[in-house]
Amino acid sequence: MIRVIQLGYFITFEGVEGSGKSTQIRLLAERLAAHGFSTTLTREPGGCPIADKIRAILLNAENSDMSPMTELMLYSAARAQHVSDVIVPALNSGNIVLCDRFCDATVAYQSFGRGIDRGVIDILNSHACQGVAPDLTILIDCDPSVGLSRARMRIEASSGPREERFELENLEFHHRVSKGYQQLATEQSHRFIVIEGDDKIEEISTLIAVQVLARIPEDLCVIC
Ligand code: TMP
Repeated sequence: MIRVIQLGYFITFEGVEGSGKSTQIRLLAERLAAHGFSTTLTREPGGCPIADKIRAILLNAENSDMSPMTELMLYSAARAQHVSDVIVPALNSGNIVLCDRFCDATVAYQSFGRGIDRGVIDILNSHACQGVAPDLTILIDCDPSVGLSRARMRIEASSGPREERFELENLEFHHRVSKGYQQLATEQSHRFIVIEGDDKIEEISTLIAVQVLARIPEDLCVIC
């Protein structure tokens, strides 16, 4: 059993495909570093060697026959490894951890998207997380059809592995995911900040930075 002391601060980014969260998380990491904070930027699925191998299986479009329960368990397995290898050590050393997707994605995609019972997902999430939970979650709200076409363009332009199993899902699936995120943000409004994803990249980034800097606990503040 790993020991969670959590001196740091845990921020997750969520949103549908093509919402711009990966750009925004990188920009926030740069701004926080400029303020003197130690940050750890990571992502799910993946973030460490074993979880990256699971990511390759999960996102490979050739695995279109994967059952929803296999998919859920692979996300949970990747998360268990990532939490103990990366997130807990970074939080214990006092870093601000910025994670591109976390447990909310499993609720949105595997419960709202795939239809798996939420209770099953909550149990697996709690085993994988070992007591770690986001202090703050930034949800970048974006119309799924706009996001999906952006994501498909990015895949076409990329020379890396085609991680497109979810981009090949139909629009109804992505609308269910989007609804799931909105419901989570309403249920847990104390930790969610919902940001409109249609504005200019720099404007969104400034908005996020202002909100985040206002919430970081004072004992973590270096320069602010
Ligand atoms: P990414 O495109 O943001 O890197 O995320 C990879 C895909 O994995 C994305 O389509 C959402 C999906 N996903 C889930 O279905 N469940 C999860 O728990 C996570 C973390 C991601």
